[in-house]
Amino acid sequence: MNVSPQTVEKKSAPRPSLRDRAARGRREQPVPVPSEGDAGAVPFAELLKSHRGRSGLTQQQLADFATLSVRAIRDLESGRVRRPRRESVGLLADALRLGDQERLQLHAAGGSPADHRVSLFELPTPPAPPGALVGREAELQVLLDQVTVHGHRLVSVVGISGIGKTHLVLEAAKVLRARGWQVGWHSLAGDPLCCGVIPAADSGSDEPPTRATDLTDDLAGAIGERHQLLVIDGDDAPGPGRVDVGELLRRCPGLRVVVTGLAPRYLPGERVLPLTAMAVPEEARDHDYARLSEVASVALFLSHMRRSRPGFRLREDNAHAVVRLCRWLDGVPRALEYAAGWCLVYSPELLLARVGRDSHLFSSPTGCACQNLLRSLARSVDVVAERYRHVLAEVADRPHWTVADIDHLVPDPAAALHALLIHGLVRPAGAHLPEQFTALQLVRLLYV
Ligand SMILES: Nc1ncnc2c1ncn2[C@@H]1O[C@H](COP(=O)(O)OP(=O)(O)O)[C@@H](O)[C@H]1O
Ligand SMILES: [Mg+2]
Repeated sequence: MNVSPQTVEKKSAPRPSLRDRAARGRREQPVPVPSEGDAGAVPFAELLKSHRGRSGLTQQQLADFATLSVRAIRDLESGRVRRPRRESVGLLADALRLGDQERLQLHAAGGSPADHRVSLFELPTPPAPPGALVGREAELQVLLDQVTVHGHRLVSVVGISGIGKTHLVLEAAKVLRARGWQVGWHSLAGDPLCCGVIPAADSGSDEPPTRATDLTDDLAGAIGERHQLLVIDGDDAPGPGRVDVGELLRRCPGLRVVVTGLAPRYLPGERVLPLTAMAVPEEARDHDYARLSEVASVALFLSHMRRSRPGFRLREDNAHAVVRLCRWLDGVPRALEYAAGWCLVYSPELLLARVGRDSHLFSSPTGCACQNLLRSLARSVDVVAERYRHVLAEVADRPHWTVADIDHLVPDPAAALHALLIHGLVRPAGAHLPEQFTALQLVRLLYV
């Protein structure tokens, strides 16, 4: 008989304390192990019974520890329920204090591919950066120093979407791994944003969304003693799925965390590294093309251009348009990437003429139009405190302004400016305009 997974119901008994659990001994008895190539072949009931036998728990005790009903345990051990809910298997594995392998095996036997909230019983290592890091030497050095020399336990790399947070932390992770650091990786970015919806980490399943506490528990468990640094990427969205970084740091005293996001976490001891635009060239008619190609934003634009137009070089007839594009796009790497992609269709001059009028140019030519930079920028604006957002709305279309100019808009103008700078929505107007600030062109477009 195949009984519905719901048969395994939760009981409201309080969970035993960690001390209670630690006090329990474990009997050393062999547990049936599937032979190689035969993973999951041991029936769930048999595996559960043998784990329980080894732990020395009665069915009632296991039920209490796992906060399940004793009937549920009986149904599982008798084989009446063969496919328990994944959550229930997780609770049983916790109660039985199973190691990583045993836990995976129990999940497999129960037909639930190991807890896929985060398949974290083995924390993944960071992927390689998506390409060479252009510029950002100073930012990379600061980030590395914060973690290694200064030993800060939490560094937040913050800035607007597309500014290069992920790329920078991946590069830092690569450097640290090369120095022998044990680095774990947790990305909440999942699939790219599509049509305004952030796909849940466990989309496609009928499971409830992962709660922050579950996620933090899982991460803390997976980190153990094995990781010195955890890089959490793309953890921008509030609500379910967000890692409780403060709790994680408390639970893993040897751990350091680098996290990316639209805004800081505002946690005690947090160091914030605001990522601003890449260097842009001065506007001048007669450029030294070799030097111009070394300005970070131009170098990045050219490297993307050459992917689709390998022969592209800066020349008299295009250099001015490239310079103005890089400046117009405020040296935002993702904007430069999209613009270079569109250059298969438009020359840089034509693109420059269209870019303020056609919001499609802020989407990838090859992706869904909903993955639009203006849309993701709006999320950055949304996380700014209401009264500072009001300041931004007022100054967005001014060419430049000082902190004194926003005096009448808000009681704490310096704090307002600081918040807008940290969120990456405004920037210094340039060396030739000291103490002046300006909104990013993309921000200006949002307010048009
Ligand atoms: N310094 C850089 N050098 C080369 N490519 C970069 C750099 N910064 C960002 N990029 C590229 O720009 C795009 C956006 O960067 P990403 O790190 O994903 O931004 P964020 O995480 O802030 O949204 C990616 O394709 C990334 O590889
Ligand atoms: Mg990112």
